[in-house]
Amino acid sequence: MVKVRLQRYEVLTSTNETAVLAAGKGAAEGTVIVADRQEGGHGRMQRKWSSPKGGLWFSIILRPLTEPEYVAQVTLLAGVAVTRAVRALYGTTKPSIKWPNDILWNGAKICGILSEMRLKEDGSTDYAIVGIGVNVDQSPETLPEELRETAAILNQVGEMKHTCDEVLEAVLEEFFTLYDSWQQKGFDSILSEWKRLNCTLGNLVDVRDDDQVIFQGIAENIDADGALRVVSREGVAKRYDFGEISIR
Ligand code: BTN
Repeated sequence: MVKVRLQRYEVLTSTNETAVLAAGKGAAEGTVIVADRQEGGHGRMQRKWSSPKGGLWFSIILRPLTEPEYVAQVTLLAGVAVTRAVRALYGTTKPSIKWPNDILWNGAKICGILSEMRLKEDGSTDYAIVGIGVNVDQSPETLPEELRETAAILNQVGEMKHTCDEVLEAVLEEFFTLYDSWQQKGFDSILSEWKRLNCTLGNLVDVRDDDQVIFQGIAENIDADGALRVVSREGVAKRYDFGEISIR
């Protein structure tokens, strides 16, 4: 099992940025950068990520022995880890995964995941950073106006309350158990569990780029590299590595 080395900060611009700098200086696999709050937290598509005190904001440094084209699988792995941890802690099966990396509670977002990776000069994987933001216990007024309908805070929606440290410990435990299995046995069992925990496959989805709907269809499957396969009503199939979908 990878040794976890926690580095805690009161405030950072972004735990992902600090993790990238630390990884570049050789920080060991298993280093976890945690901040009570972030002043420049960011999400996918260069979006701002609201990160006040009370939420859980952290980034994990990894050095997987995986070919670069498969490193993105770690994002799906992280989604499974967070969903497992939150389901167990809060005693509910409500949390589920929206492809590729949102965790929803009854359709409202409680967690986002932002992965980054860097290659060595020889083309092999140098490191991957998995940044995870979980709305655990910040005050609801801190949620940006435009997210109030679509985001949720665990301690508000759950029947019990947990501290950020309890959620962090549970997520890291699940994450590194899955990570070991991924490194030793590959992605199959993680992909099967992702499929059991997701709320995307089988649904009609809008694929968006820059907030424009660029394709519509049924989300049919996830490929081994984590790409989503969408089939339109006319039977046209497309694969999406990135992008944004919304479930109808
Ligand atoms: C998303 O849903 O768009 C991804 C959000 C990822 C947010 C986390 S919080 C910890 C880490 N640091 C950041 O700046 N972003 C990630």
